Parts: sequence; C-alpha cells; structure tokens
Amino acid sequence: MQIRITTDSVNKDAALILPIEKNGHLSAVLQQIATEFDLDSQFLELDFAASAKEIMPVQGNTPTGKIRMYLLGLGENPTFATWLQVARTFFHNNRKKLPLQLQVAWSFGNRPENLPLAIEGICNGFCLGEYKIGRFKTGDDQVSTQVETSLEFLVAPSEIAQAKTSAQRGQAFAETQSTLIDLVNAPSNYKNPIDLSNWALRSSEKHQFTVRVMEKAEIEKTGLHGLLAVNRGSEYPATFTIMEYIPNGPVLKKVGLVGKGVTFDSGGLSIKPSANMHFMKSDMGGAAAVFGTLEMAAKLKLPIHLIGIVPATDNSVDALSVKPSDIISSYSGKSIEIIDTDAEGRLILADGLSYMVQNYQPEILIDLATLTGSVIRSLGYVAGGLFSNNEELSKDLISAGQRSGERLWPFPIWEEYGEMIRSDMADVKNFSGKPMAGAITAAKFLEHFIHDHTCWAHLDIAGVAMSDTEFSMQKSATAFGVRLLIDFLENLD
Ligand code: BES
Ligand code: MN
Ligand code: ZN
Repeated sequence: MQIRITTDSVNKDAALILPIEKNGHLSAVLQQIATEFDLDSQFLELDFAASAKEIMPVQGNTPTGKIRMYLLGLGENPTFATWLQVARTFFHNNRKKLPLQLQVAWSFGNRPENLPLAIEGICNGFCLGEYKIGRFKTGDDQVSTQVETSLEFLVAPSEIAQAKTSAQRGQAFAETQSTLIDLVNAPSNYKNPIDLSNWALRSSEKHQFTVRVMEKAEIEKTGLHGLLAVNRGSEYPATFTIMEYIPNGPVLKKVGLVGKGVTFDSGGLSIKPSANMHFMKSDMGGAAAVFGTLEMAAKLKLPIHLIGIVPATDNSVDALSVKPSDIISSYSGKSIEIIDTDAEGRLILADGLSYMVQNYQPEILIDLATLTGSVIRSLGYVAGGLFSNNEELSKDLISAGQRSGERLWPFPIWEEYGEMIRSDMADVKNFSGKPMAGAITAAKFLEHFIHDHTCWAHLDIAGVAMSDTEFSMQKSATAFGVRLLIDFLENLD
C-alpha cells in the first residue's frame, strides 16, 4: 500500500472515506457532508448511526461529477484499537470492489480529537487488511495481479509532519505484524525450530540488531536440559535463538524478553485429544511476539537495550520422548519431575528465563507464551493473563494493554499455588495433577527459574495469539504482543 499525506482537496476519481464518531456532533457532521455532496441529510441521518464498524456506501455529487464515498462508523469514544480494527475490517472486506485510489478526509466536522493516533491506526489497519491467509492455495485468485492501492490522507498544512510520522509507524507495524501472522499461521511442516531461528536471522540482516543461534550440540554443551527434554521425541533438533538490540545513543533500560517457541504441540506421550490439535501449530505465538518486538524496537530506534530469547522445539510422540515420571535437570540446575509431558512450554521457558537472568541480568524480565488452556477458560479470547511479582511493572503493562488494545488482566501468584507443584522427588513438578488454577500454577513453576528477579512478568497469551479474524473461518494468528510491548517500552522512564 502506498500511503500519502497531502493538503490536496477531494478528488472525485478516488473513493472518499469519511470516518465518523458517534457523538453529539453526528447530526451536524452528516448535515455538512450532505451539503457538500448534495445529498439528503434527513435520509443520511436515518441510515447511518456511526456505530463501530458500520459502513455506508454513498454516491455523492461534485461540480465535476459523481463520487464514491464510504461513511465509516467508529462508535463512541474510539480508542486506538477501534481505529485499527475498523480500518482493517473495512479494507479487508471491501478490497475487491474498492478503486485503487482512496482518500481519507476530516474536513466535515469529523476530525478526531487525536489525529496522529487515528492516522496510525488507520494505516496499520488498512495495511493489515491486505493480508491474505491463503498462501498455499494454487487457484488463479491467488496470483497477485493487483496494483498497489494508494491511500491518501487530506490534512491541514500544519498537520503534515506529524501525520507522516504516524502513517509511517502504522505501516511499519503492519509490515512486521503481517510476517509474524504468516509465521504463526504456517503449518508445522513449514515451520521447524530452524525456521524460527532463520526468521530472526533474516530480520537481523535488514534491521539493526544481532542474532546468535545455538544448535543442538551447543544446547547440549550449555546444559539447556528443559529444552532438550522436550526435544527428545522430535525428528528436528531444537534451536535456542538469542537476539540483541543495542541502541546507538543513551540506554534507558535493559529489558529481557523470552518467548515460547513450540512449533507443534502434540502433547507428547500425554497426548492431546485430536479435535483441536491442529491449532497447536501456533504454539509459538510467544516467540513471534518476541521476534516482532525486537524488529520493531530496531525500526523505531528505541532507547532500550533489548534481549530476546526463543527456545524452539516441537513436542512429539516417539520412543525417545520424555515420559511422565521422568526427572530432568534444567539450565538453572534445579531438578524437575515431569507429571504431564503436555506441560512442555514451561520446561523450555524455564531454561530461557534462567539463561536470560544469568547471562544478561536485565532490569525488567518478561516472558510470553501460549502456555495454558486454563487462561482461555478464565479470560476467553479477550485478554492475555498477566502474572507478575512487581506491582509497578504490572500496572505499566496493563496500561500499555489498554492503550494498544492488546489487553492483559492480572492474576494472583500467592504462595498457596506454589504448594500445588511441590514434588516428592525433585525440586519442583511440572503439573499439579489437579484440574484447577492451571494458569497460575504454570506461572508459579516459571517463578522457580527467575533466580529471585524482582521485576518479572509472565504473559499467558494462549487465548489471544489466535482468535477470530476477518482472514479466516477458523481461528488464526493475531501477532498479539508486539503493539503491547512496544507501547510498554516507549513509555518506560
Ligand atoms: N500449548 C498448550 C496450551 C494451549 C492450549 C495453547 C490451547 C493454546 C490453546 C500447553 O502446552 C498445554 O498443553 N498446556 C496444558 C498444561 C497441562 C497439561 C498442565 C493445558 O493447559 O491444558
Ligand atoms: Mn502442551
Ligand atoms: Zn504447548
């Protein structure tokens, strides 16, 4: 998509898009539009309530001819997430019939309170709306013949500079998010641990950060026993990817991110039921969020020293697979009793977290993982679960979630939950064995491996990494976490 910011006037050969909020000015806005384009304001008011995602195509009149217009409803008090979502759904659902030239105008009393935010959201949304999920289809409709759409924002001269920055940000996010969505949607036979590492390597060639990939032999030498245990049953060797972004100027904070990179989770010997097993190709949504955050931090040149770690493997059934009752070691040296081989994410994260703390000493430590079905039963597909030992970090992450539209909701991590994963034979067990508080006991397990770090948060994104989107009939990838974390990092002081 080609995005332009100009002070031009309305061009009747383009489709005119008018985003409109539902507020006390609605009637006045519609009247102004009616006057300008010679329409009947009474009908307009009857037909268009400006509810969120409401779309009304209208044929307007200009002195030189007819013009296609779309009134885009935003509902009341639109947030950043509203702008993004409305734009994305509109463009995705109408892209086949829209002309190649689009204009967005604000000069009819419809100027939003925060124009830069609106422009960023619309650009992010339109660019994401171009996403096509069917990249493995072979039919004609997949051959891209489409010429690039041009999206033009008509603004006042004083607004140009700010609007350009916002548009570029929106587009930059969308580009990163689209590649992550492809990665998370990719089936496991197109996505081995090495493919995850290669994603990071390729990204680092284009952006200013470095990547080191540990392969099997080095993982063994390093003693990442949690990762090795999960990888035992796999035909593909595990990888352990370390990304590091160091800003050119002064460094505000050092932040460590760890993402779960399970490329397919069959459950292992504690095998999952088959009905929803195909969704387990996306058990690397945490890894994707970490990749995307590193890439965006580098693109935006954030003043943050950022380290990202992604342990990657699949969780498969094999004669060599780790078995329930096995006792394994970990990078931290602590022993772990395996009760359920389907609680594999926490084993690889344990090593990721330990390795991060012991080798990089970040001031803030955050891990992201599609970790439990339990968090989905608690929060549905609406928010990620937040587990933290630090009040301020927790507050800041929740605020970032609210602003970015990638919401988090806090859970307690009281010591009683820790009791539930005490093991008779080892330092800790990987599952309580009880069908309760599963997301919290998972967090308590991870807490064993942060080496008393005092500013840690675990984000369980099982419900939000995949959800209903306009791209597919089934749940599909969202790239959840990138907007959230970048917002969080940009607001650190
Ligand atoms: N990857 C799953 C969690 C998951 C479930 C993600 C549904 C997305 C959608 C995880 O590895 C898992 O299997 N968790 C188990 C843990 C249990 C065996 C202790 C769960 O939550 O059921
Ligand atoms: Mn599992
Ligand atoms: Zn898993």
